[in-house]
Amino acid sequence: MSTEFIDQLIRSRRSVFPEMYDDKVIEDDIIMNIIENATWAPNHKLTEPWRFKIFKGHGLKLLSDYLGEYYKEHTSPENYSEFKHKKTIEKPLKCGCIVAVCFQKDPQNRVPEEEELIAMGAAIQNFWLTCTSYGIGCYLSTPEAIRNINKITPLQQGERCIGLFYMGWKKPGELLGKRTDLSSKITTIS
Ligand SMILES: Cc1cc2nc3c(=O)[nH]c(=O)nc-3n(C[C@H](O)[C@H](O)[C@H](O)COP(=O)(O)O)c2cc1C
Repeated sequence: MSTEFIDQLIRSRRSVFPEMYDDKVIEDDIIMNIIENATWAPNHKLTEPWRFKIFKGHGLKLLSDYLGEYYKEHTSPENYSEFKHKKTIEKPLKCGCIVAVCFQKDPQNRVPEEEELIAMGAAIQNFWLTCTSYGIGCYLSTPEAIRNINKITPLQQGERCIGLFYMGWKKPGELLGKRTDLSSKITTIS
C-alpha cells in the first residue's frame, strides 16, 4: 500500500448524486464487501454499533413511496413544492441500491453514546471510501424522514437510522471537491 494511493482515494471521495448514476445493478458481493469494510472502523470496547438495511429492487420503490408520503405529510402548504416532491420520489429509483446506516445503542451502556457515534462516522467513511474505490458514486442523505424509517423496516429497541447512502455506478466525469485553507485549522504546540 502506498501513501500516494491513500491520498488519492481519500481526496477523490466525493458526494455523487443520483443524476450521475447509470442504471447498472450493483452486485450483492460488492455491496457486502462495502459493508464489511465499514465494520472495520475503530469502535471502543468493540460495541460494533452499526446496523445496515439494504434497499434494492422493489425495496427502492418502497423507500421512494415512503419518502414521498413523508414529504407530503410533513411539509406545510406554503413550503410545499411539487418539484421537490417529484425529486424525492425519483432519486431512490435512480439508485443501484440504498443502504440505511443505523446506530444500535449498546444495551449495556459500556461507552458514552458520543463515542459510539464517532465509531459510526468512521464506519461511514470506510463505506464511502470503498464505494469510491469501486467507482460507485454515493452520498449520505439525512432527511428528517429517517426518524420514522421503522415504518418500512423494523428497528430493534435502541436502534435508529443515521442516514441513507444513495448508491449507483458513477457515470464518467470528474467532480471537484472543495476545502478551505488548512493552516487555519491547525495549532502547533512545540
Ligand atoms: C453526517 C452527514 C450528513 C449529510 N447529509 C447530507 C444530506 O442530507 N444531503 C446532502 O446533499 N448531502 C449530505 N451530506 C454530504 C455533504 O453535504 C458533503 O459531504 C459535503 O458537501 C462535502 O462534499 P464531498 O462529500 O463531495 O466532499 C452529508 C454528509 C455527512 C457527513
